[in-house]
Amino acid sequence: MEREIPTTPRRIMACEDVNVYYGDFRAVTSVDLTFGKNEITALIGPSGCGKSTLLRSLNRMNDMVLGARVEGSVTFHDQEIYAKEVDPIEVRRRIGMVFQKPNPFPKSIYDNIAYGPKVTGMKVSSMDDLVEEALTRAALWGEVKDKLKQSAYGLSGGQQQRLCIARTIAVNPEVILMDEPCSALDPIATSRIEDLMVELREDYSIIIVTHNMQQAARVADRTAFFTALADEGTGDRTGVLVEYDKTATIFGSPADQRTEDYISGRFG
Ligand SMILES: Nc1ncnc2c1ncn2[C@@H]1O[C@H](COP(=O)(O)OP(=O)(O)OP(=O)(O)O)[C@@H](O)[C@H]1O
Ligand SMILES: [Mg+2]
Repeated sequence: MEREIPTTPRRIMACEDVNVYYGDFRAVTSVDLTFGKNEITALIGPSGCGKSTLLRSLNRMNDMVLGARVEGSVTFHDQEIYAKEVDPIEVRRRIGMVFQKPNPFPKSIYDNIAYGPKVTGMKVSSMDDLVEEALTRAALWGEVKDKLKQSAYGLSGGQQQRLCIARTIAVNPEVILMDEPCSALDPIATSRIEDLMVELREDYSIIIVTHNMQQAARVADRTAFFTALADEGTGDRTGVLVEYDKTATIFGSPADQRTEDYISGRFG
């Protein structure tokens, strides 16, 4: 399922010398990465190497984490998302996020979708149409169209995760961040989400953290491999980017021995 992608990504987002701290602890060290428009980028690596931390720094979700601090440059359309004049809520609307555990609101299916457009004050000519379109794009409409007023908690895990994707799409983002979105799902639900990601790539740029090597190999255009190294100063383990390339290269002929060891299951 290899497809033609440019040698270098058509930049929609980029990190330059990004360091993320929790208090004095530096969880991520000096990451440079360019994310491509209409590409799926996978972030992989052993537990604790800072994947979630880095992902959260891409839409200022770390602002909500006590003690977390981001240094360096994170840009979206070449604009610094941490600049003083930037509204973090607007950042999170344009760069949406889907979490590991499906987390629908304790509301109806319909209201889960309608909530974001309402609170962000989006101009909507027909909320019914918007809800239908978001659910259709998330490949859920057919399964829920007759029970829109029922609680989202009545859906299966896989359906809830697609609802969360629909909820993200409803506010019209450009980038969707996903942190292990399939880790709570069975193989069939996982496969549906993977198909969905590939469809959504046409209109969105997706950055996904996954522990599932096959998943990265199946869906991602490019893959970034991270590991944790002992920091020279403190001896604390800190996350570094080892290698970033087209997925076919990362899995077929990686440049770094550590990548090779990880993808072949010898480490992590
Ligand atoms: N809220 C927090 N406060 C303090 N330290 C944190 C916090 N969140 C993460 N860390 C630390 O930062 C480092 C990176 O954690 P992170 O969750 O980003 O790793 P990860 O690569 O996503 O791991 P996993 O694959 O297990 O999800 C770890 O050492 C972790 O203990
Ligand atoms: Mg994580």
